[in-house]
Amino acid sequence: MKRDRDTSITMKTLCVAVVVLSLSSVCRPAPLACDKLLKPVDKSPDLSGRWFVIAMSSDVCLIPALLNSLLWPSFAVDFTAQSTPNIYESNVTFKILDYCGAEPETIFFERNILFDVDSNNAPIDTAEVLLHTGCPDCLILKGNDSIDSLLLLSRRQKVTEAELKEFRMQADCLEWSEPEVLNSDHDYKNCKSFDDVEATDEEIWNKMYERLKETYNVPLQCLTKDIYDFSKALYAVTL
Ligand SMILES: *[C@@H]1O[C@H](CO)[C@@H](O)[C@H](O)[C@H]1NC(C)=O
Ligand SMILES: *[C@@H]1O[C@H](CO)[C@@H](O)[C@H](O)[C@H]1NC(C)=O
Repeated sequence: MKRDRDTSITMKTLCVAVVVLSLSSVCRPAPLACDKLLKPVDKSPDLSGRWFVIAMSSDVCLIPALLNSLLWPSFAVDFTAQSTPNIYESNVTFKILDYCGAEPETIFFERNILFDVDSNNAPIDTAEVLLHTGCPDCLILKGNDSIDSLLLLSRRQKVTEAELKEFRMQADCLEWSEPEVLNSDHDYKNCKSFDDVEATDEEIWNKMYERLKETYNVPLQCLTKDIYDFSKALYAVTL
């Protein structure tokens, strides 16, 4: 009698374990939906003008998590078409802890691919791909570097919950990190210049510390997940 009960308890534990382990794949969007969500756009959008960076995911969970937990930056990008076809000047403006800076680059853009170019318009970076989006004034940029990132940009400073949800599904389809929503403070005028920043500036460290006190669980969750994935992989190898 006792033996039966032990067996059934073991079975129950096993079932719970199986449910928990398979939960992540159960929640993943269907493959067909992913095919559509990860398709590069067919028709290139008009790149010119200003775009606000809304959210970010990456194949390395800790990158967006630490970026947002420590620095909580805001970014905007301006594209200006040049006289040479497909060549644009891009200017990434950013604000981190009340300091602002800008990073101009020249890029090549055609259909759904863009990459940085040098002064001879030769590629100096791997290409980024523009993916499908149901949002009428958004761009989804998928990087292709040693650390891959997925960015949601919009003409608006904030997007709707439905638009964010679609972006989350795209990140999920790639099995990348849960997107981090970046700061939406796009006032790049009333801030100190990054050129004046000093590593000894107490204020910066204090701000990072204050922010981390509230957000430390985000990078911690990444670490936990990385350790879990690593253990699972190790277990699979040693099995
Ligand atoms: C980039 O943006 C910054 C700040 O908005 C501006 O001061 C700078 O002139 C711009 N650079 C270029 C090359 O457009
Ligand atoms: C991504 O990068 C890899 C290696 O650098 C390259 O082989 C591949 O063609 C790239 N894909 C795109 C879409 O640029």
